This record gives sequence, structure tokens and C-alpha cells, in this order.
Amino acid sequence: MRVFGLIGYPLSHSFSKKYFSSKFEREGIKDARYELFELPDISGFPELLRQQPDIQGLNVTIPYKQEVMPYLDFLDESAERVGAVNVIQKAGSKLIGYNSDYFGFKKSLETWLPQDPSTLSALVLGTGGASKAVTTALQDLQIPFHLVSRTAGANCLSYAQLQEQPHIFQRPRLIINTTPLGMSPKTDAAPAIVYDLLSPEHYLYDLVYNPAETLFMRLGKEKGAKVKNGLEMLELQAEKGWEIWNEG
Ligand SMILES: NC(=O)c1ccc[n+]([C@@H]2O[C@H](COP(=O)([O-])OP(=O)(O)OC[C@H]3O[C@@H](n4cnc5c(N)ncnc54)[C@H](OP(=O)(O)O)[C@@H]3O)[C@@H](O)[C@H]2O)c1
Repeated sequence: MRVFGLIGYPLSHSFSKKYFSSKFEREGIKDARYELFELPDISGFPELLRQQPDIQGLNVTIPYKQEVMPYLDFLDESAERVGAVNVIQKAGSKLIGYNSDYFGFKKSLETWLPQDPSTLSALVLGTGGASKAVTTALQDLQIPFHLVSRTAGANCLSYAQLQEQPHIFQRPRLIINTTPLGMSPKTDAAPAIVYDLLSPEHYLYDLVYNPAETLFMRLGKEKGAKVKNGLEMLELQAEKGWEIWNEG
């Protein structure tokens, strides 16, 4: 039996376990199972691998996407560039780290945007782990972007600066929410951008997938903008993980 699973802490709501369990059933994959390995501390990771020698691949979630990196033998270019790992492949005795959020976001964005994406520019709201995967993909798609943070910095604007200088806001037609704002159960929150300036020319991509329509998306839709939630990215990153575990 091939064992796959998720490490993180805590692991009460796992999309991955549900996704892979139903995938294995749907596709008649009988030699694999997917388990949750809750690790109160990342120092328990080597012991987990000793206790579970049949592990062939793992997903990594909060809070270990960076902390797990020193335990790995190699990093794929995706993980190196994003600076975080969310998929681990065991190849013989070696552990290789990948970032499938990057692949999932890039693929879903490419198929969603109708025209040559390099003609767009973007605003990326939030500067956490997901933001790094998003900006790496934007670089590869040659889409220039500004970062927006609660704290202004050398490389990022604050929400207040954005509101004071509407011309900065009007040009980028792609706006990506990488903050957790609007995520269930706090569904009445949305990033503090000027929604009145949005138009049918805008594309709003929310990495949040629960609820299916966030307040950010609803406010954009009211102005005619095209909107998309993070479910496809989530599914594509899971499938990329499966591909990595099976093909290397
Ligand atoms: N669809 C997918 O496949 C997928 C994949 C990964 C993550 N996600 C989702 O993306 C979201 C972010 O994930 P993450 O791991 O990057 O989380 P994170 O590191 O905890 O937060 C991301 C950033 O959001 C900003 N932020 C946090 N709280 C905020 C608040 N109250 N108001 C305004 N900004 C706030 C912060 O940036 P500043 O400090 O710069 O403001 C923070 O660095 C989560 O909802 C997660 O579920 C989805």
C-alpha cells in the first residue's frame, strides 16, 4: 500500500484528505491511501518518516511550508523560487520539495484570462506565503504587478496609499486577493480597495474558495468585473502533487 498524506498543525479541516480519498475511489486506485499526520512540532518529522516507511509523498500545510525545508535533500525550482514547500516527494531515501501552489495558480490564471496575459498588469493584495506563489507565477507570465500590504514598504503599497492615489489603482486590471479576508466563517470581510473604480474591464481572482462567492468577488461583480475563486487552483495544485508523486 502506497501512503500519501498531509503534515501540518492543526489539521481539523483538510481539503486534501477529502480530495484524494474521493479521487482514489472514483479512479479505482486501490494501492494508495491518504492520511493526516498532525505534527505539533516539525522536529517530529524525521520520526514520522521512520514510523511510516510506506510514505511516498506528502503535502505540507500551515505552519510548516517553510520550516520543513531544512529537512529536505533537494528543492525543485518551484520551491526554491517561491521559498516554500507544499509537496514532498520521496525518491528512494531522498526527499524533494516542490511548490504546487505556484503551478496551480499559474495554470488556472492562464486558462481564465482570455487575451495575451502579458498585456495586463496586476495588484496582489497580501504578502504572505500564497502571495509568493502568485508573484512567482506572474513573473513567469510576464505580468507586471504591485504588491499591496497593510504596511507600506520599499516594495509594497499600503491600502491607504492605494485609496489616496486612484490612478495607481485604475491601471492594473487584474486584482488578486491572497489575504484570508472573506474566508468562512468571517464572510463579511473584504480587502480595503476602492470597489467603485472597478469596471467590466477588471479581473478579480480570489484565492479564497470557501465561500464559493466571497464579498470581494461580489463587490467586483456588482461593477461588472469578471471574478474567480480559488477552487480550481486548489484542485490543480492537488493534481500537480499527484503527478509529482507518480512521475517525479
Ligand atoms: N486556492 C488555493 O489553492 C490556495 C492556496 C494557498 C492559500 N490559499 C488561501 O490564501 C489565503 C492566504 O494564505 P497564506 O498562507 O498566504 O496566509 P497568510 O500568510 O496567513 O496571510 C497572507 C497575507 O494576508 C495579509 N493579511 C492577513 N490578515 C489580514 C487582515 N486581517 N487584513 C488584511 N490583510 C491581511 C497579510 O499580508 P500583509 O501583512 O502584507 O497585509 C498576510 O501576509 C488563505 O485564505 C488561504 O486559504 C488558497
